[in-house]
Amino acid sequence: MLEKLKELESAAKDKIEAANSLEELKEIRVKILGKKGALTGLLRSLGDVDPEERPVIGKKANVLREELEEFFKLREQILRDAEKEGQWEKERIDVTLPGQPEQIGQIHPLNMILNEIREIFVGLGFQVAYGPDIESDFYNFEALNIPAEHPARDMQDSFYITEQFLLRTHTSPVQIRTMKKMAPQLPVRIIAPGKVFRRDDDATHSPMFHQVEGLAVDENISFADLKGTLLLFAREMFGPDQKIRLRPSFFPFTEPSAEVDISCIMCSGEGCRVCSNTGWLEILGCGMVHPRVLEVSGYNPREVTGFAFGMGVERIAMLKYGIGDLRLFFSNDLRFLKQFG
Ligand code: DAH
Repeated sequence: MLEKLKELESAAKDKIEAANSLEELKEIRVKILGKKGALTGLLRSLGDVDPEERPVIGKKANVLREELEEFFKLREQILRDAEKEGQWEKERIDVTLPGQPEQIGQIHPLNMILNEIREIFVGLGFQVAYGPDIESDFYNFEALNIPAEHPARDMQDSFYITEQFLLRTHTSPVQIRTMKKMAPQLPVRIIAPGKVFRRDDDATHSPMFHQVEGLAVDENISFADLKGTLLLFAREMFGPDQKIRLRPSFFPFTEPSAEVDISCIMCSGEGCRVCSNTGWLEILGCGMVHPRVLEVSGYNPREVTGFAFGMGVERIAMLKYGIGDLRLFFSNDLRFLKQFG
């Protein structure tokens, strides 16, 4: 019996020392000290032992039991420490590693063009004005000399919200809003950038696009002032050799009205695919503010005159950057947007 106890002791100690994980240690513990464990079995068979030897062996067995408990505890502590160490190792942060750079975005190509347009006109003494995207029939049409049933309304297929309100089809209503606010002060010199909306959708038309409106009202403003302002704008925007051409046109809110072309920026006027071999590219509409528009806005058309213009921002961006499809501006494709960094 004593032999058996000795054997059990050395086997158990070896096993405990060799345990490599807490799990393994637990299993060993069950096999030795558990209800059906080796030492427990040994103690149970104490009844078969000679009654004289019984107390000696019993005592030894109990001492061994306590010793083994101690052993288990020690090994458990060691394994626990090792486990923690391993976790720290895994989670350790190396503060000397270089940081990951944040991806920085960039200004959208349309905003780049808008900023350029704004700079040019602010440099000429214009202020920047804004109007609402949802406009009343009065500001969007009536006050601009486009009465109900007027065929000019068909040029701008509109999104109506109610009978009286719609998504503005152009930035021209900001002319009226500004003059009504400022009258009778002079001079009025504003540009009004913003979104406009029309029921169009193809490679060169989007249901939402951007315009910049311009308006100057003062005593003695002439068509020559309009032409000079636009020529300067074209040269600042597209280069010092730009030419412009004005063609007679019609807008209900200007009289006379004109459409403005710039010499083709691809072929410098030679004629190419972009300008359909004409050598010219249309960029905006303009004219002298119609007397009735001045009048509804609180100015006396016998005392003051004014000029106005309206340009499409997407069209200018497409020409300047050589972009063939307007929908690219709004599809948020990073491969496209990153080219303008
Ligand atoms: N509002 C016009 C349009 O969207 C553009 C325009 C033409 C604006 C002539 C003007 C102007 O101020 O004088 O088609």
